[in-house]
Order: sequence, then structure tokens, then C-alpha cells
Amino acid sequence: MAAPLLVAFTAGPAGAWRIDRIAPVIGPTLADADRLDVAEGRRPDLAHAAWQLTGTTSHPRYAERAELAALRARQEGLARPGATCAALIPVRKTEAWWDLAQDERRAVIEERSRHIAIGLDYLPQVARRLHHSREIGGEPFDFLTWFEYAPADAAAFEDLVGRLRATEEWRYVDREVDIRLSRD
Ligand code: HEM
Repeated sequence: MAAPLLVAFTAGPAGAWRIDRIAPVIGPTLADADRLDVAEGRRPDLAHAAWQLTGTTSHPRYAERAELAALRARQEGLARPGATCAALIPVRKTEAWWDLAQDERRAVIEERSRHIAIGLDYLPQVARRLHHSREIGGEPFDFLTWFEYAPADAAAFEDLVGRLRATEEWRYVDREVDIRLSRD
């Protein structure tokens, strides 16, 4: 497992990704902006930013050995040349979620919601990176989820988010914003 990587997502006038839309799913939305900058290992200056969200990569909490093996066998990395669509989906979970024990959270995520099994259906088309924000302090979301895919897989990605949002796990989500992006 690689060391944790700090990643800052800064919305504003500059950045490699064009922001196509920002849609609230539950709770307050985020301000509109033209571009998104994704910076690894540093927090860019906020002078012209509409907002900035920061998280770190981390070790897996819930995936079991066989699931990790299945993920590693199928997943592809970020920055594939054809993956010109992206989604940044920040998620916050309820106090009730954080009050659960580890085994109870695992039961919700996988035994009852099939999050990992559902996700595997969309690999390798969708590349992903999960960032944790909760422990940083002062961050408005618990997780910053990032996905990259080709335009031809955009419909499949909609299908994926629809399936996940219909699960028991998502009853514990009290803030979610869906940000879609593209690059040339
Ligand atoms: C966590 C896989 C799509 C949101 C996870 C974990 C795995 C996973 C393995 C658990 C990591 C751990 O053990 O700690 C996948 C796969 C996907 C996918 C293979 C398909 C591309 C999505 C989508 C969303 C999402 C589309 C948002 C709409 C999350 C969140 C967590 C998470 C918020 C953290 C849950 C928590 O720790 O409470 N995902 N996922 N995932 N995923 Fe996904």
C-alpha cells in the first residue's frame, strides 16, 4: 500500500478539467466554477478559488482479501489518454454511521449493499481513487471520490451511481454533490 497522498481539488478559473455541471444530490451544493485543478502533495493558493476540498488516499477499511485481489486484477490507473470524462463526488455520512462499529459498517457496505460487487461490474472502464477528508479537520465532507472514464462509458457510469444511491449504505449519506468534468 502506497503512503497516503494529500490531494487538493480547487475549483476556479484554472485547472486541467472543465467543470460541466455541479448538481446537489442531498444537502447544500457547491458554488459554480469553470475549471478544476487537481493537485497532489500540496494545497494550491486559494486567491481566485471558488472552493477547495482536500483529502488523502489511505488504506482499505472494508475490502477483504479476495475483494482486494479482484479489484487489483481489474482496475486501471488514473490519467488514461481516452478517459476524458471525470466525476468528483464528495460525500458526507451521518453521525449514526460513525457511531456504528467496524463490523456493522462492513455489513452495511458489502453484505447488504454490495458496494464492492456492484463497483467491480464497472471495472476496468471506470478508474477510481478514494480520498478521506474526515480526519483532516475543517473539511465539509468525509470522502472525496474521484472517477475517470471514456465518453463511451458515460451511460454505464450513470447506471453505477444510480445503483449505489439505491442501497442501504446511501441512507447514511447526508451530503453529496455530483460534479462532472471533461478534458480534451
Ligand atoms: C468505498 C469500490 C464506485 C463512493 C469503496 C471501497 C471500495 C470501493 C473497495 C472500500 C474501500 C475500503 O475498504 O476502505 C468501488 C468501485 C467502484 C466504486 C470498484 C466502481 C467504479 C463508487 C461510486 C461512489 C463511491 C460511483 C459515489 C457515488 C464510495 C465512498 C466510499 C467508497 C463514499 C467510502 C465508504 C466508507 O468508507 O464509508 N468503494 N466504488 N464508490 N466508495 Fe466506492
